[in-house]
Amino acid sequence: MKNFLSIQQLSGAAIEHLITRAADLKLNRKSSPQVLAGQTWALIFNKSSTRTRVSFEVGVRELGGSPMFLSGAEMQLGRGEPVKDTARVLARMVDGAIIRTFAQQDVEDFAQFSGLPTINALTDDEHPCQILADLQTMRERLGGWKGKRVCFLGDGDCNVARSWVWASARLGFELVIGAPKEFQPAGSFMSAVPGSSVRVEADAARAVAGCDVVYTDVWVSMGKETESVERIEVLRPYQINKQLMSHANPGAIVMHCLPAYRGKEITDEVMEAGADVIFDEAENRLHAQKAVIVEMMRARSE
Ligand code: CP
Repeated sequence: MKNFLSIQQLSGAAIEHLITRAADLKLNRKSSPQVLAGQTWALIFNKSSTRTRVSFEVGVRELGGSPMFLSGAEMQLGRGEPVKDTARVLARMVDGAIIRTFAQQDVEDFAQFSGLPTINALTDDEHPCQILADLQTMRERLGGWKGKRVCFLGDGDCNVARSWVWASARLGFELVIGAPKEFQPAGSFMSAVPGSSVRVEADAARAVAGCDVVYTDVWVSMGKETESVERIEVLRPYQINKQLMSHANPGAIVMHCLPAYRGKEITDEVMEAGADVIFDEAENRLHAQKAVIVEMMRARSE
């Protein structure tokens, strides 16, 4: 794994290996391998972030490197300099790149033209770092994903949902997408996912029934703000609340990639009841991403 651009690119075994590595790094946080000693890694962010930015800045430091945060809007990128030119300039100066942007093609192009180890820190297509942290949390709380059923509620065609679809296809657990017809995964996307055991369900209670994990994400993703009113109206029946949770399996956990909008995709009551899991999930961003970097450096040294 020389770059980490999607869950799609990984085999099930590679995902399992990353989660095991992440657990080890979590256990031994104070003695992280110094695989980035002497290196500078650029964080190029075209969208807002709390968890991703902080976890990568801390993670790069803990692995011995120096992070350099670059707001895309303040770079010449924001004035139209092509990604392929930016990539070739940065390749002369830094050792790796972590990119949060809109188009998946931009991180693919950056990786190709820079030759640098490149990580997708969220695009419109995927949020692979988030899903690794989610899977790590599932393993901690439920012992793994084998035989488990996950329900993703809300915008079933967003980047996080798509990464869950790929994770389900690679690892073989059941995934139910609970979403209204306007926000169900695009047919063109689903037909490209081989061997997925994904069920799309428009009825929220039926979607949650028999699930071990009930997962949600913000209803208005970054870049979709003009659709805010329509989205909130259509997605309201998919709010995770106590009544909806009564349909899930006993002991089911609630997960949220955060930030959370209480009263919209989740109630304050359910959010606070599930806080231990949800904030472990946020912390696991750090450990999972360190695992990604360690594996990338190992692959590049071979
Ligand atoms: N979940 C997530 O990516 O959080 P941030 O947008 O705060 O980075």
